[in-house]
Amino acid sequence: MSPLIIALDFADAKSALALAKQLDPTLCRVKVGKELFTRSGPLLIEQLINLGFDVFLDLKYHDIPNTVARACLAAADLGVWMVNVHALGSRSMLLAAREALEKHSQRPLLIAVTILTSLEKHDLYAIGLHGSVEENVLRLARLTDACGLDGVVCSPHEISTIRKAIANDFKLVTPGIRPVHSGLDDQKRIMTPAEAVNLGADYLVIGRPITAAPDPLQALMDIINEI
Ligand code: C5P
Repeated sequence: MSPLIIALDFADAKSALALAKQLDPTLCRVKVGKELFTRSGPLLIEQLINLGFDVFLDLKYHDIPNTVARACLAAADLGVWMVNVHALGSRSMLLAAREALEKHSQRPLLIAVTILTSLEKHDLYAIGLHGSVEENVLRLARLTDACGLDGVVCSPHEISTIRKAIANDFKLVTPGIRPVHSGLDDQKRIMTPAEAVNLGADYLVIGRPITAAPDPLQALMDIINEI
């Protein structure tokens, strides 16, 4: 299986399924985020799983520990492969999520978001977080690891710092990836798939270079060859 997770950033299930059917579940996994899930819900997750895909449910839970733990259990009951939470939700929230999933017969990977890449130093300062973005990312990645979660979502530019600080089995899931011959869209600090994998990324989240390609399967295979 390749490290690729294709972001199904569509507004409706019909478009998401049409794209998924052009892909190959032995070559990639798929990610369902807030818009698509809010519109299409658990039925779509079931349909994607029935097509053979591992599903990353990217809902970034952040709430009181009991609520997040129960939401993670609900995700596990859907049969998803990966689910995520915000590390800023606190140690007790991360522990509650992990402990809830431990008892599940089909435990999904549990990943935390550290600092969203849309935030800059002045944004962090305004919500009371001091230090650089990198310092905050590293502190939250260490907290995530200490709470026994499986890994973090991070920018490709944070891979090296986290890899040096935390053992190798800690999974790094990286968006902001653009193949060599692709446009940037609205991504700014990008890296190629091969660069990210060489630095130590475990999974690469890629959307438009595949979802907007004239031949999505060919675009997927080109990226796998590039890696
Ligand atoms: O189309 P593109 O490859 O830019 O899609 C990337 C996916 O990864 C989108 O679903 C986007 O929301 C997500 N993502 C991101 N950058 C982050 C976190 C998530 O692009 N820092």
